[in-house]
Amino acid sequence: MLNFTFSNKTRVHFGENQISQVTNEIPLSAKVLLTYGGGSIKKNGVYDQVIEALAKHTVFEFSGIEPNPSYETSMKAVALVKQENIDYILAVGGGSVVDASKFIAAAAEFNGEPWDILAKGAKVESAVALGVVLTLPATGSESNGGAVISKLATKDKLAFMSEFVLPQFAVLDPSVMNSLPARQLSNGVVDAFIHTTEQYLTYSVNAKIQDRFAEGILHTLIEEGPKLFTDEKNNDVNANVMWSATQALNGLIGSGVPQDWATHMIGHEITITFGLDHAQTLAIVLPRLLWEMRETKQDKLLQYASRIWGINEGDTESRIKLAIEKTEQFFHSVQMKTRFSDYQLGEEVVEVIVSQLERHGLTQLGEKQLITLDHSRNILKQSL
Ligand code: NZQ
Ligand code: ZN
Repeated sequence: MLNFTFSNKTRVHFGENQISQVTNEIPLSAKVLLTYGGGSIKKNGVYDQVIEALAKHTVFEFSGIEPNPSYETSMKAVALVKQENIDYILAVGGGSVVDASKFIAAAAEFNGEPWDILAKGAKVESAVALGVVLTLPATGSESNGGAVISKLATKDKLAFMSEFVLPQFAVLDPSVMNSLPARQLSNGVVDAFIHTTEQYLTYSVNAKIQDRFAEGILHTLIEEGPKLFTDEKNNDVNANVMWSATQALNGLIGSGVPQDWATHMIGHEITITFGLDHAQTLAIVLPRLLWEMRETKQDKLLQYASRIWGINEGDTESRIKLAIEKTEQFFHSVQMKTRFSDYQLGEEVVEVIVSQLERHGLTQLGEKQLITLDHSRNILKQSL
């Protein structure tokens, strides 16, 4: 196992009717900015519950945070935070609202050009306090210190990490998932699955706890994910999927193990240039990336084949091939497509994405920095 320091201070309130916890989580003296997206929270009752919980607080609102949140929109909220001396941000939404709120929280207290936090890795030294009411389980953003922001003007989708933007608390009420459209349920299951593989399908460092936890998340998503699309869907199913997504990216399974993240890096370039949803890009890239890198990932791929899919027969290549096929079939079972052609995209994507990767310096990706532009090009070509 590799050395690590692990800490996760986000207090999680999990279960039905937990939105009321917001009342006590945020000091009454705070000036609160409620941030949200395009209005789904007004249709499913979440907004009303939040407003009720904040009945005695001073509340401002900022809405219109878009999926794949933009720097441009976020900076409008930064101005509001400064103008009103906001000292608590409550993000109510999916990963996009949470990520934008993290950036807003950091940018409002940043001396200098806030884009440098994303583009130059400028150090965040403080941030406005942040709480979350999660409405879409997928990203794990509700209890991690990461955020991904897009600058539309220059086609950059970039991430930053800071302990200062780790949410102080997160409310996870699985019943809020009942209003999610199928497309977002698919996105959630696949994003959580691939967060797990990014930290599991690398090379072995004999980290048994992390491996078994990761396998537990994968098994849960494989068992419960497809039920979201059938009559078996209920709040137990929601709860198991929701908790899987949080556990997949709250730092626990990634502690003390090598991490890949190449699928995410390539995926972000696809979203910013061709507009596919985050998880849609991952489901296209992952199967071909695993095959392309099968030699350096061999031991973990064989472990994955055996422990997740029960594949123990045949030679190494055929076992790995079958495990990747099963993975792709699983994505299909949660209504997720796995090819560019499914989105009417063809050959034209390959060089556009390769040049984006090059422009962002993403020329040596993966746990061993072995994924060169030639590998990325081949992965993209094989994914058409
Ligand atoms: O905007 P509203 O009207 O709320 O609608 C949203 C949005 O259109 C809707 N939605 C959310 N909860 C709903 C709902 N509709 C009905 N009922 C509900 N309960 O769903 C749509 C998508 O929401 P979004 O927040 O964009 O989705 P997701 O949670 O998948 O977040 C994706 C973003 O997170 C980033 C991605 O790159 C992308 O920008 N990621 C963040 C990570 C992190 N911070 O750790 C890691 C991830 O790998 C990822 O990169
Ligand atoms: Zn992701």
